[in-house]
Amino acid sequence: MNREPVIEQLSSFLRIPSISTLPAHDADCRRAAEWVAAELRRLGCREVEFLGSETHPTVWGVGPAVPGAPTLLLYGHYDVQPPDPLAEWTTPPFSPTVRSGRLYARGAADDKGQVFCLLQAVAAAGRPPVNFRFLIEGQEESGSQVLFDVLRREPQRTAADAVVVADMSYVAPGWPAVYTALRGLCYAEINVRTAKSDLHSGEYGGAAPNAHEALVRLLGRLKGEDGKINVPGLYTAVRRPSKAELAAWRKLPFSEREFLTKRVGAKALTGLKRYSVLERLWALPTFEIHGIKGGFTGDGAKTVIPAEATAKVSIRLVPNQKLKTVERQVAAAVKRAAPKYATVTVRFLHGADPAQVDVSHPAFALLDRAFREVVGRGTVPVRAGGSIPIIPALGRGGAPVILTGIGLPDDRLHAPNEKLDLKQLWDGIEVFKRFYELLGETGRR
Ligand code: BES
Ligand code: MN
Ligand code: MN
Repeated sequence: MNREPVIEQLSSFLRIPSISTLPAHDADCRRAAEWVAAELRRLGCREVEFLGSETHPTVWGVGPAVPGAPTLLLYGHYDVQPPDPLAEWTTPPFSPTVRSGRLYARGAADDKGQVFCLLQAVAAAGRPPVNFRFLIEGQEESGSQVLFDVLRREPQRTAADAVVVADMSYVAPGWPAVYTALRGLCYAEINVRTAKSDLHSGEYGGAAPNAHEALVRLLGRLKGEDGKINVPGLYTAVRRPSKAELAAWRKLPFSEREFLTKRVGAKALTGLKRYSVLERLWALPTFEIHGIKGGFTGDGAKTVIPAEATAKVSIRLVPNQKLKTVERQVAAAVKRAAPKYATVTVRFLHGADPAQVDVSHPAFALLDRAFREVVGRGTVPVRAGGSIPIIPALGRGGAPVILTGIGLPDDRLHAPNEKLDLKQLWDGIEVFKRFYELLGETGRR
């Protein structure tokens, strides 16, 4: 394979700023969908369609028909997260650049580089006896509403013998993974209003309520310093992983010390100290504050009592928790924690149920074998801390959903200087090519 044109082809995808959470980028999302559609046609798809939206369509493709061969559905997303803070990028987020064997760009690993890998592998495999189906969506990073609606209307789109999702990473360099669980997500905006308008902090300070103070008090009540989340009922559905699973996690190439120093880069880790870091990341719910809006944050000093404050927060859910239940619990907890003098509202922006995957289906053994042959080690079963809202729906047709990926844990998803190691891409293309071949062989017996 001549690698230069392949990198250039991926770069043309990465140059499109398809940020699905910002309406100003609607046209870019559409362009990214068109890029995907053109690729699918290049792969010989006879049927390529835009489903569900003009601006953020799910791109559907059907590969050449091979009667009697197994059907494989490939899922991924062409949308990306906003690139800010821009000043921290060494090279601009939408100007893909190779440095020391790594391709730097927003979307390099999440998920354009991985979608590209799955597609390149189809091209590299020639015409394996597999009926390929593609669902490449444009709203994964903002809740997947379009694809949810499409699959509610047309559930048969997920009919397949297996589904592959390459939107995660190896568990460590040299250690490919398959995922047995994903966390869910409950994303909310909490708004606090304390007065009709902002007030002079000298004239009114000491007697008038302050919206930011009300908000931080409220947030402080929702999570203790020990990391325990004070949302009544939240932990009721949480199940401890089995002894066997916890024992398997202890054998993974994961060091809490290195996680702190090399990946997090903080002075100490936080959270429920009774549990291992992996258990905190994979098997316990979280409460995070993403940002607080309002009041005076400009240059210089302005003496004002803000009348309004808004926080964006989220709770990650673990297997057996239900989004609908958690939304109710969060709304009740916020109401209970709100100071009496403030008007507090909660608005849920989007969410996802957690997912659990049984990895005993024979298709997982094929991927394990493909990784073993190409990178010298098979897949280890692990869990993910992140979420992919549509996963439970993709499995509803009964097909095994294989969650895997070619990224590395230090790819800096959603952060400045996101990257993909090119070695991971070249290996990944070989791995999936081999996987398609092995899957094709199962159908010919
Ligand atoms: N690819 C990630 C999810 C992921 C990250 C899984 C790391 C496993 C390991 C996905 O693109 C993502 O970021 N999802 C969002 C979903 C949300 C915006 C609804 C997430 O997890 O925050
Ligand atoms: Mn992703
Ligand atoms: Mn993401």
